[in-house]
Amino acid sequence: MSENKSGNQVALITGGGSGIGAAVARRLLDAGYRVAVTGRGEERLTAFAEELGRPGELLTIAGDTAVYDDVRSAVGATLQEFGRLDAVVANAGFATHDTVAEGDPAGWTDMVLTNVLGPALLIRASVDALKETRGRIVLVGSVAGFVHTPGNIYGATKWAVTGLAENTRRQVTEWGVGVTLIAPGRTETPFWDSYGSLPPGHLLTADQIADSVVWAMCRPAGVDVNTVVVRPVGQPV
Ligand SMILES: NC(=O)c1ccc[n+]([C@@H]2O[C@H](COP(=O)([O-])OP(=O)(O)OC[C@H]3O[C@@H](n4cnc5c(N)ncnc54)[C@H](OP(=O)(O)O)[C@@H]3O)[C@@H](O)[C@H]2O)c1
Repeated sequence: MSENKSGNQVALITGGGSGIGAAVARRLLDAGYRVAVTGRGEERLTAFAEELGRPGELLTIAGDTAVYDDVRSAVGATLQEFGRLDAVVANAGFATHDTVAEGDPAGWTDMVLTNVLGPALLIRASVDALKETRGRIVLVGSVAGFVHTPGNIYGATKWAVTGLAENTRRQVTEWGVGVTLIAPGRTETPFWDSYGSLPPGHLLTADQIADSVVWAMCRPAGVDVNTVVVRPVGQPV
């Protein structure tokens, strides 16, 4: 994608109405991208668009990242509105914050489908368009996809994202498509609302993670940054 000026470029971000996804969207808009963001809730997307003054360069698309028809529609709507696709950011995800031995399995299906199936569906739905632009795929994983934590079922979904990123890279690199896995440490976003409190210690801001995402996306053509793990100082594991 870096063969083109960023003013031409188009990115699609799942879960882009809040937290890290919204921070990435803001930065890309500032850099001259046209940006589509998805999320399940219309309200959140509308609030985000209104906060930015409803710019013409922002498209909001309601849809579930774990449902292939929704993902295909989102890719189609982005192409129809903006005419091309240079980057997808598989960012939508959440945690049930419980453990495999003591948690409530009722919450796991949606989490596994969103966190694991969702990125795979996005790759499948967008790869043809990305081949045309020699674009980039960004997967938002987690430090929890690199370290073991007792019972962490959310972490297991992020280990899957770590694997998906490299397996995808090995397939799509010969088509000129880059793949970046961004693995955030603890970051202050609505992710923690369902936990009931923020975790202890110093947290990153969503903007600080977005910095790394946009840095990796904006490397020169031919340069593929593959894995970026970003922790706040003070997070030991
Ligand atoms: N915050 C952290 O400490 C941290 C650390 C490591 C990794 N991460 C990862 O970073 C990513 C972004 O999370 P965040 O921290 O920015 O939290 P967030 O503000 O809660 O963002 C998650 C976004 O994903 C959307 N979403 C959730 N399920 C979806 C689905 N099935 N389909 C479409 N959209 C969906 C949510 O919107 P709706 O609910 O409206 O759909 C929300 O806008 C996640 O993958 C998370 O696992 C976060």
